[in-house]
Amino acid sequence: MKGRGARGYVTTNVTTVLIVDDEPGICHMLAEAMASLGLRPQTALSGGDALTILAREPVGVVVTDLNMPGLHGLELLAAVRRGHPRCRVILMTGVQDSGWLARALELGAHDYFIKPLDVFQVAQAAIAAGQNAPGPLPLRAARALVDRTQVRQVALESTRALARAVEAKDPYTRRHSEQVAHYAVHLARHLGLPAGEVELVRVAALLHDIGKIGVPDSVLIKPGPLTVEEFALIRQHPAQGAEILRHISVFADEALLVRGHHEAWSGEGYPDGLVGESIPLGARIINVADSVDAMLMQRTYKVPYSVEFVRGELTRSAGEQFDPKIVQAALEWFEAFPEKIIQPPALCPTA
Ligand SMILES: [Fe+2]
Ligand SMILES: [Fe+2]
Repeated sequence: MKGRGARGYVTTNVTTVLIVDDEPGICHMLAEAMASLGLRPQTALSGGDALTILAREPVGVVVTDLNMPGLHGLELLAAVRRGHPRCRVILMTGVQDSGWLARALELGAHDYFIKPLDVFQVAQAAIAAGQNAPGPLPLRAARALVDRTQVRQVALESTRALARAVEAKDPYTRRHSEQVAHYAVHLARHLGLPAGEVELVRVAALLHDIGKIGVPDSVLIKPGPLTVEEFALIRQHPAQGAEILRHISVFADEALLVRGHHEAWSGEGYPDGLVGESIPLGARIINVADSVDAMLMQRTYKVPYSVEFVRGELTRSAGEQFDPKIVQAALEWFEAFPEKIIQPPALCPTA
């Protein structure tokens, strides 16, 4: 059946499929398979070229690679969904990653395939997409997300064991990471962060001092003041912690927060001397939570300070060590939820 499309082009019910891949060989193989199944293939070697073709002629389905120089496949997907909402998009990638899969789902992808491809399977999916069949992506993406959550949980349990081993060296820091996570989560919620960000802050707070595993015990639990050299060793722990987490793929985002948890708003912190909002927000939250817990608890070198003292210290250091917005949130939270402030064990016999 033939007719005139809105732009004056001759249209038929044969679906035009635009194949986008920076590897010409893949474009060619897919185009041949699609043509043999009665589709009308077009090819583009980049996302930019694909958008030019889409602006020029009607396309029913886009089949695109993800990792391409220039426009990434997910950016192309977003542009197609914005500018050509009736066009379906199928993704192809060499790397399976539930992060991009979740993003693809959010952006409205129809289906995805992992390379190496069965080109006829992809062509069949393009036929189904062209006939407006519902896409299988939501179910598959949901499964991948569940898998990722389980992997994160297992990874967190093992990594927490390492963090606990560090804390167990010093009786005064035994519950430090959990307590920092407690304050950090409440502050993140009080600041209105979305649930996903709160979870990121929680996990990073649980693991924030994991890099101390590389600091000798003699320095870690030294009762007296530290020498310059010993302090330099302690200062390595944010970068070392991030390095440990960088090798656990599900904690890549947490690694950034762990690296930044001793940065200071004024730029006087370490390891990178970042200033203000260039420090990740989660790291700024953990910095405040970490200091609150350290001040409220006893240490080998200090007695527990009162909540009033902590409020005063936070106020005094707002704009220097701490982000003033987070200090404000902490002061409001202390006021609203005094019962959630953790007291040192010596003052709280039931703890
Ligand atoms: Fe730390
Ligand atoms: Fe800490």
